[in-house]
Amino acid sequence: MKITVVGAGAVGATVADNIARRELAHELVLLDIKEGLAEGKTIDMSQTAALCGFDTKLTGSTNDYAKTAGSDVVVITSGIPRKPGMTREELIGTNANIVKGVTENILKHSPNAIIVIVSNPMDTMTYLALKSSGLPKNRIIGMGGILDSSRFKYYLSQALNCSPADLHAVVIGGHGDTTMIPLTRQATLNGNLVSNLLTAEELSKVSADTMVGGATLTKLIGTSAWYAPGAAVAALVESIVRDEKKVFPCCVLLEGEYGQKDICLGVPVVLGKSGWEKIVDYKLDAAEQELFNKSAEAVRSMNSVL
Ligand code: 2OP
Repeated sequence: MKITVVGAGAVGATVADNIARRELAHELVLLDIKEGLAEGKTIDMSQTAALCGFDTKLTGSTNDYAKTAGSDVVVITSGIPRKPGMTREELIGTNANIVKGVTENILKHSPNAIIVIVSNPMDTMTYLALKSSGLPKNRIIGMGGILDSSRFKYYLSQALNCSPADLHAVVIGGHGDTTMIPLTRQATLNGNLVSNLLTAEELSKVSADTMVGGATLTKLIGTSAWYAPGAAVAALVESIVRDEKKVFPCCVLLEGEYGQKDICLGVPVVLGKSGWEKIVDYKLDAAEQELFNKSAEAVRSMNSVL
């Protein structure tokens, strides 16, 4: 198994680190346009192998796509990150050209790769990568919902004073501060509905905090977060390379599912060796469906900027 991560910034490097530590590949290539950055970071990571006990070969590359040849999975994190006060959507102008170019270069050397898009605005970048590459829909996956769901579980665990690992809680819709939809009605703690354990006010605070989870961190750190995004990508990639068939919310092409078509948006999907293999229907109620439709409207208007 060979995996490439494009972009050796904080998110890309953390993705690479998580993938290496979990030994998801025999070789991982980290590529960046900045001279020496990917090489330096992969050598630094390789020097943790003896301490962390992994055998994944890490290769750094300054924009040499030949080194990525034959990759099974490629994660694209390229582009500029958010600055405090910026929305993910404001990055579209710069990141659209970068994501399109990177996708083309990758496919020249790895025509069979499954592509995971992390660059923001992620829903629109996923749609762009799908349309510009003409790849089968199952091989283009946007990463947002796994991360947002993990943040949702964090805020729920704080409110409930419980382990995040005991929670099942999912965020669907867009990966934007106003477009994501934490499914509070369906969230459970060891099978018990959290709506029976928290007041409506507490639940709506958890939901609001989740939606601005990324923005809160950007304000504190001065740039986008990377630990949770890196771990979220690794969980997604793991289900693909180990053919685990785990269900995670991911941004994929909808063709009538959840009442929407010709749009990439976050819904629960089964992830396995073919990429995303199936969309799972979580049976939204009328209020949730209305939020999902609004989210689709906002993402669609962003897509039209392309
Ligand atoms: C985030 O929400 C990077 O979009 C990513 O932190």
